Amino acid sequence: MDFSLTEEHLMIRDAARDFAKNELLAGVIERDTKQEFPARQVKIMGELGFLGMMVDPKYGGGGLDTISFVLAMEEISKIDASASVIMTVNNSLVCYGIQEYGSEEQKQKYLTKLATGEKLGAFCLSEPEAGSDATSQKTTAVDKGDHYILNGTKNWITNGSNADIHLVFAQTNKEKKHRGINVFIVEKGWKGFEIGPKEDKLGIRGSDTHSLIFNDVKVPKENRIGENGFGFKFAMKTLSGGRIGIAAQALGIAGGAYDLAREYSKVRKAFGTEICNHQAIAFKLADMHTQIEAARHLVMKAAWDKDKGHNYLVSSAMAKVYASQVAMDVTVEAVQIHGGNGYVKEYHVERFMRDAKITQIYEGTSEIQKIVISRGLLRN
Ligand code: CAA
Repeated sequence: MDFSLTEEHLMIRDAARDFAKNELLAGVIERDTKQEFPARQVKIMGELGFLGMMVDPKYGGGGLDTISFVLAMEEISKIDASASVIMTVNNSLVCYGIQEYGSEEQKQKYLTKLATGEKLGAFCLSEPEAGSDATSQKTTAVDKGDHYILNGTKNWITNGSNADIHLVFAQTNKEKKHRGINVFIVEKGWKGFEIGPKEDKLGIRGSDTHSLIFNDVKVPKENRIGENGFGFKFAMKTLSGGRIGIAAQALGIAGGAYDLAREYSKVRKAFGTEICNHQAIAFKLADMHTQIEAARHLVMKAAWDKDKGHNYLVSSAMAKVYASQVAMDVTVEAVQIHGGNGYVKEYHVERFMRDAKITQIYEGTSEIQKIVISRGLLRN
């Protein structure tokens, strides 16, 4: 078994690392404090090809594999998880969904712009009463022949106010339950489409999370993705890949916090020596690194499964549930190693700890991942 990365993988990892250090690091604390969207940096991400990494070059993408995407996500998350959530939603939910299941016209019209970063995407599934229980969509789309009329409210939408192109899920036939759900491409600015309030979040504060309101929005029929009733399956299929992105984000958050804790332990002195010389700290570092490596293996395996065309439903859920737990555990320990300094913003680790929590919640909570894993295992 060969664990080495290719030259191309290393190049992409280094490019993402340089981008994160040069463009994201300065100002990351300020953006977090002020809840400021990294607009300039997202533009550069588009120019560098980080927003459409896995999209076919004929639609303006990088044509890269999922391993490359994971490597870039990890590096960017080591510095700024707000930037990486913007990136993963665009890549692994919106671009992937349109590339896999969209019509040629939808790809030409929307994917080409999303892949280059000219436009930004959002994935609008969650509702006030449909977070984990994604089948319970209250948003409706009524078929009017050549168009649908969309009504409802979506919650906790990443890129909510900055996205130009929204994938919106709606119920078109209540009797059919999840088989009556469809997904539509909706453009910002269409009549009746309002951006609701911005959430004041614990973490990933540089990314914007909004509710969205649809009041009699007219959606052309050609903007429905796939066959009638395909929306729920579309959500499940795209989320399986999206979970690899979030797992990579969790891996990066853990890695960023670990790096800072290790370096801090080599310079901070207590009881006459650097604190890394105390086993109380050295053993923590050993555990943190071991957990991160274990998470990395699960994340890479899920990405490899996807690249090889294997079923990655269970491996992506395992990667997400484990890597997000590691992100939580490692960031808590990183704060502990920093002592009092860990509790102040300047040292970054308190932000990593706050950012880590969301990886156990979005794109399916840890409990949802365990449902997915156990169902997958029991089916075999
Ligand atoms: N691929 C294809 N089809 C799938 C599937 C998959 N991965 N998972 C389920 N399905 C199909 C089933 O086969 C079934 O189809 P049939 O009716 O034809 O047999 C249908 O979907 C319904 O499946 P279930 O009965 O298993 O559905 P369920 O209601 O029990 O729900 C669930 C399953 C796993 C709990 C699902 O609801 C789920 O994943 N919920 C979490 C939703 C989620 O991740 N939300 C996050 C919001 S997005 C976000 O966070 C983005 C962001 O901004 C960062």
